[in-house]
Amino acid sequence: MTLQLNKPDLLKTQCLIDGQWVSSDSGDTLDVMNPATGETIGQIARCGTAETRRAIEAADKALKSWQSTPANTRATCLRNWYNLMLQHQDDLAAILTAEMGKPLSEAKGEIAYGAGYVEWFAEESKRIYGDVIPAPDGDKRIICFRQAVGVVGCITPWNFPNAMLARKLAPALAAGCTVVCKPANETPLSAYAMVALAEDAGIPPGVINVVSGVTSEIGAEITSNPIVKKVSFTGSTPVGKSLIEACASTVKRTSMELGGNAPFIVFDDADIDSAIDGAMISKFRNAGQTCVCANRMLVQEGVYEEFAKKLTERVNALRVGDGREADVTIGPLVNDKAANNVISMVEDAVSGGAKVLTGGEREASGPRFVKPTVLTECTSDMRVFKDEIFGPVAPLFKFSTEEQAIQMANDTEVGLASYFYSRDIGRIWRVSEALEYGIIGVNEGAVSNPAAPFGGVKESGQGREGSKYGLDDYTEIKYMCLGGINA
Ligand code: SIN
Repeated sequence: MTLQLNKPDLLKTQCLIDGQWVSSDSGDTLDVMNPATGETIGQIARCGTAETRRAIEAADKALKSWQSTPANTRATCLRNWYNLMLQHQDDLAAILTAEMGKPLSEAKGEIAYGAGYVEWFAEESKRIYGDVIPAPDGDKRIICFRQAVGVVGCITPWNFPNAMLARKLAPALAAGCTVVCKPANETPLSAYAMVALAEDAGIPPGVINVVSGVTSEIGAEITSNPIVKKVSFTGSTPVGKSLIEACASTVKRTSMELGGNAPFIVFDDADIDSAIDGAMISKFRNAGQTCVCANRMLVQEGVYEEFAKKLTERVNALRVGDGREADVTIGPLVNDKAANNVISMVEDAVSGGAKVLTGGEREASGPRFVKPTVLTECTSDMRVFKDEIFGPVAPLFKFSTEEQAIQMANDTEVGLASYFYSRDIGRIWRVSEALEYGIIGVNEGAVSNPAAPFGGVKESGQGREGSKYGLDDYTEIKYMCLGGINA
């Protein structure tokens, strides 16, 4: 398959080290597949330890100059990059859909979303403030200021190949850090394309380096090399835990955006039509492959039947297919393993007594296409209650009381996003305070936004991305004690 792009040189297959696009030392490559068709769309450099080490050294070499670049200049580079991402939105979206599968309209939305982080942090880079703290004794002043943490390793997933990288790169660069990125091997082309635009935006060589290939070798070098001062990762909880362990030997700072198991609670007093709208966006965005996707639909008994019926009607209107086709709303899952896992979860639920209202199987068009599914009569011993589904499956669980809903919602080790629908202001406060989650959508199914702090509690991770808090993870606070004021 050849991709028709307006700017064909956005399609890079080599890694970026110190401003040079290079092949792997061995010349080995890895295939990148279109999950809709199974076709190979590119062969990327298969890099390992040595290339990663050179990328880290390049980032270190570029650090001093980038750190001391005036904030206004860094802001201008980021703003240029934002403009270029929007200017080339169609090409970036075409690459993203080809390697990841999401519908083209969603891919365009993701480019705008990712660019939004770049714009946000272009502005924030001018607002990295410090503090002056009154000293307990009069002859001193306590002055605090923030500095870039240094070289950062960013490891990003395949489900949002543009936005997740933008959400890490933009604050890192705004703070004055330099970066080595490792995009997922399923979706490296989006990362290369956006970074190619960063070069055009005036971001100097060595400030952003990208390596992909042998994940274990790249990950081991990033987490053990003492030059790297911080690792930011988005992905699964088990991988996050192993990265935290690996970072411990050199006491690196870590930001971890890990798995979720979002409850989507619908109380009897909810506006049901609005809850259905929220459920559709929260559950079926990206074919259910997001960490903040509604995982468990907890519905109060008084509205359970109505909610199930209306949700099924809306789900039946979704169109599954190749993301490049007009009107497709659900693309393929990213690979065979992902599709097999989702199907096995449905089978587990059905064998435990769940009823399939719609879907529940693959589409005839290909092994990675899973029909959007609604399951009722689900129970907490099923995998769909305990595990992150990461697919277009909505399991419904019935509850009676507010207390029971909170207990069910919090009955998980993770705590990223949660949602609930109610019109009772007292309940809104009570439930928001009781939910053990970093993000709470109240009467709202779309919670992701560059202005908002994205991140979880419990085993969903540590740190916040986006918002005014998003720079904290990329800066150190230095304290200067100025004495002898009265001398
Ligand atoms: C994720 O799935 O990790 C991110 C989703 C989002 O930013 O909304």
